[in-house]
Amino acid sequence: MIEQTLPRLRFAAAEAGAPRAAFAGDVEALWLEVGFGGGEHALAQAAANPAAGLIACEVFENGICSLLSRLVPQGGEATAPLPGNLRLWDADARDLMQLLPDGCLDRLFLLFPDPWPKTRHAKRRFVHPAALAGVARVLRPGGEWRIASDDPTYQGWVAEVLADQVLFDVKPPDTQRPAGWPPTRYEAKALAAGRRPLYWSLCRTGREEAI
Ligand SMILES: C[S@@+](CC[C@H](N)C(=O)[O-])C[C@H]1O[C@@H](n2cnc3c(N)ncnc32)[C@H](O)[C@@H]1O
Repeated sequence: MIEQTLPRLRFAAAEAGAPRAAFAGDVEALWLEVGFGGGEHALAQAAANPAAGLIACEVFENGICSLLSRLVPQGGEATAPLPGNLRLWDADARDLMQLLPDGCLDRLFLLFPDPWPKTRHAKRRFVHPAALAGVARVLRPGGEWRIASDDPTYQGWVAEVLADQVLFDVKPPDTQRPAGWPPTRYEAKALAAGRRPLYWSLCRTGREEAI
């Protein structure tokens, strides 16, 4: 899978300057998923939204293999048809985001990110005051940033970080997964363990950071 199928889907750094051109056909929207895990959500979104081009990012090889094995039957690694609206970035999503043009994304998914619950690790959290401007740069005004978390520390952190910024309009999070938001493996684990996920849908305002 990694040797034969991943190269067929890999989004190359050289394509980042004109990301829509990386898809087989025309795409009406460009979406990015950070940390797709086993790929359940990325595959469901790509199947349900053929007009959207999705770049799905994951650093964990087992996760990448999991997504690929759902797409391709054994023996079809090099030849089985692949969705034309899905590309994979098998490295740190933040490195890709730095290469993307301003305002190129219509939607960004961050579903059940690693919570890094210890205070001394807070800098590693994807949602971070120092990282918001980088997300805002690549999301077009009116674009949507979906965030889900089941971790109470991270939930509180997200609320705190989002309370003090002007880059995104923030409504109170949903306590039930909204329509059009396919489930993920981590969500299933969280629900089975009795944890209560929160689901945020942020809208990029078009404003820049407060002076
Ligand atoms: C807790 S898991 C959640 C996976 C999936 N979203 C789900 O809900 O089942 C977080 C995933 O994000 C990946 N990840 C963390 N930071 C990342 C980054 N900067 N770029 C790409 N993937 C990342 C991890 O490897 C891990 O698989």
